[in-house]
Amino acid sequence: MKFKVPSHLAIILDGNGRWAQKRGLPRNLGHYNGAINLFKIANHANNLGVKFLTVYAFSTENWNRPKAEVDYLMLKPLEYLNENIDRLKDISYKIIFVGRRTKLPKETILVIDKLESQTRNNKGMILQIAFDYGSKEEIINAFNQIEKPYTEEKLREFLYVKEDVDLLIRTSGEVRLSNFLLWQNAYAELIFIKKHWPSFSKKDLEKSFKEYSKRNRRFGKL
Ligand code: IPE
Ligand code: IPE
Ligand code: MG
Repeated sequence: MKFKVPSHLAIILDGNGRWAQKRGLPRNLGHYNGAINLFKIANHANNLGVKFLTVYAFSTENWNRPKAEVDYLMLKPLEYLNENIDRLKDISYKIIFVGRRTKLPKETILVIDKLESQTRNNKGMILQIAFDYGSKEEIINAFNQIEKPYTEEKLREFLYVKEDVDLLIRTSGEVRLSNFLLWQNAYAELIFIKKHWPSFSKKDLEKSFKEYSKRNRRFGKL
């Protein structure tokens, strides 16, 4: 079956820890395998014609995890992406980071800057990695930069993520948004999948697009 491809796909990359724990591995290995999978799924999304892929990689609430896990998340998965981009010159999409920069360690910013600048001239999809991202912080931050009368257009200009979401996928069975793209998801189609993120396959992505193709997006009309 042919399927429709969402222009803006958003994914909540959830379940890395449980994926590892189920296998008797430390949680951080789940994060590492999650990063490998992101690379694979992003390539596939780009090949299928997705224009924007926004992924939730670290939330403003994730700072409340144990320090060792936060330290790992701040650097290791990004280093993986960085190393692979050095090797795989065939990466054909742009990477940008969306979220708050002020709390991130210097080393993290260095890797982020490198990933962004190395992919800046690529054509194709834009992969937006939401890192120290929280929707409430994003909206307050935007409001603080505009003047009355507030309009959707003015606000949008200062949001980290400017495009409305067409399809949101969350892995790992949780059925909630966890402060992700509250504004941009206003009319998104939602799909919740039981599998943990490191097990989410290219096939699962295509299955989600088939499900999305069956949805009747009415936008309030008849
Ligand atoms: C998603 O996996 C990655 C981040 C939130 C950083 P989790 O770490 O939330 O994995 P679970 O949900 O505990 O299994
Ligand atoms: C949401 O996952 C954040 C990311 C995937 C980065 P969490 O695992 O942190 O969300 P909750 O705490 O289960 O809602
Ligand atoms: Mg989780």
